[in-house]
Amino acid sequence: MAELTTLESKLGEVVGLAMAAQEATQKVMKLPELEEELAQKLERMNEEAAEAERRGTELAGSFEGKKTAILEEARETKSKAKEMLSTYLDDESDALDGFEFLTMAEAGEVGHWSVLETLNQRARDAAIGEYVEWGLPIQERHLEDVKQASEQLASEKNPSEPA
Ligand SMILES: [Fe+2]
Repeated sequence: MAELTTLESKLGEVVGLAMAAQEATQKVMKLPELEEELAQKLERMNEEAAEAERRGTELAGSFEGKKTAILEEARETKSKAKEMLSTYLDDESDALDGFEFLTMAEAGEVGHWSVLETLNQRARDAAIGEYVEWGLPIQERHLEDVKQASEQLASEKNPSEPA
């Protein structure tokens, strides 16, 4: 398979995290104690993750002869993230656990998109620039939203009750 540059490989990781985010949001949507308003937020995050995957996949196609390798990188990242998801959330998990997991996952996404942005400051690929400009603020909002949701769910808990 074609060898990837650091920039191309990071694009693959970002796409892989977008794939994983769709599964994570779906899983959290099924957890107990999830309120309607939060379910709607998850729905939107899920759609935006799908859009990030779609745009990123299209972008991968603009790297001559590299698309397959970039998407292979994406799938690898996705399967690692999926493993983390299934390790963290189990049958006893509730919505708060779900949003705590998403806080880690979204922080990871923000970190990866920022790395892609930094690499592109030297690579100056116009399409990557456009992708990051579109996606990074969305990931920052995701992180803010899931952190807020965790705090909201935590504030409704009785700290003295058995876990
Ligand atoms: Fe996200």
